Amino acid sequence: MGTWQTFDTTADRTPIVDEALSAGINLFDSSPMYGRAEDTLAKALGGRRDETIIATKIWTSSPADGRQQAEHVLRLFGRVEIYQVHNLVNWTAQLKMLEALKGEGKVVAVGATHYDPGAFDDLCDVMRTGRLDMIQVPYNPRRREAERRVFPLAAELGLGVLVHSPLRNGVLDNPPSPDEIKAFGVTTWAQAILKWIASDLRVSCVLSATKTPGRPTENAQAGDPPWFDSDQRERLLRLTWEIGIGDVPPGVVPYLVHPWVIGNDRLRALGWAPRHDNEEAIVDGLDSLGPRLSRVRWVALAGGAAAGAAVTAWLLGRRWRRGARRATHPIPG
Ligand SMILES: NC(=O)c1ccc[n+]([C@@H]2O[C@H](COP(=O)([O-])OP(=O)(O)OC[C@H]3O[C@@H](n4cnc5c(N)ncnc54)[C@H](OP(=O)(O)O)[C@@H]3O)[C@@H](O)[C@H]2O)c1
Repeated sequence: MGTWQTFDTTADRTPIVDEALSAGINLFDSSPMYGRAEDTLAKALGGRRDETIIATKIWTSSPADGRQQAEHVLRLFGRVEIYQVHNLVNWTAQLKMLEALKGEGKVVAVGATHYDPGAFDDLCDVMRTGRLDMIQVPYNPRRREAERRVFPLAAELGLGVLVHSPLRNGVLDNPPSPDEIKAFGVTTWAQAILKWIASDLRVSCVLSATKTPGRPTENAQAGDPPWFDSDQRERLLRLTWEIGIGDVPPGVVPYLVHPWVIGNDRLRALGWAPRHDNEEAIVDGLDSLGPRLSRVRWVALAGGAAAGAAVTAWLLGRRWRRGARRATHPIPG
């Protein structure tokens, strides 16, 4: 369970934590970025801290502040099972400190997070150092960039993957009919989305957050098998497209909206992930064009517009010439 926004409060969150624990949720994710969340969580857990896995983060560019954040959280929880560098902020210094804490047995696993798919290449570089045990990234049917490089690399390196923001980006807007939801073996659309994510074998844990009683139980039920097979996952994607919350129809090959026209980054933001090796190679090639890509795109667009204007002028001119000919040589009859 996440704590962003929902635990930044002086209100007592014991009832939500009680419900989460009885529903089988035992991993809680927090950060100093979430205001009072770490303290509110520690208070709500009380004597049940040992039943849980605490995942939290260091979020500061200052090494001295980073040490203070760690001392504070170790006072609250005794130790931290999963300690992450939040959004890669000064990751070189903060990861070194977390590794030292791991060496002292105060931390079990170290990792890094990023909320922005634009930073996934940097995240992959840090993953390749071999120093991380896990990562945390956003992923849902409208936020699928992690499928492209991050998940395959995490699987190759054997890293744990926590998914955040499973219910954001409007995925819950305009849900399908109850019968369509029931066909997935769940009772709510939120459960269908959560199960769709959890059914990706590369995902270790889905973090959702709530302050609403009843929702911890609802969300936890999506964590029970049976998992969706690939047909069911594809069917849910199709459904999100049909009801208007998916951006790119599943299965659509990107050439329909060619990267050179629409822009490679934009395509990724739309959730496109290559389905074939050759598509991956093309995207890699485009990546290597780097900043030149946008210039190429504008030149292509300007060229296309000029060609369109020339053809239209020629057609209009032809019509005018025919009209003029008809006027001087009237058609008989
Ligand atoms: N860079 C990072 O590392 C990063 C970035 C973002 C998040 N995170 C972590 O990941 C956690 C999860 O992400 P998130 O907070 O974006 O979670 P989320 O579950 O995707 O979104 C939470 C929102 O969804 C609502 N919600 C939850 N369950 C629902 C349900 N069954 N039906 C309808 N609405 C529901 C909640 O409203 P109510 O409270 O009203 O129920 C809340 O507004 C965060 O809390 C944080 O710990 C990390």
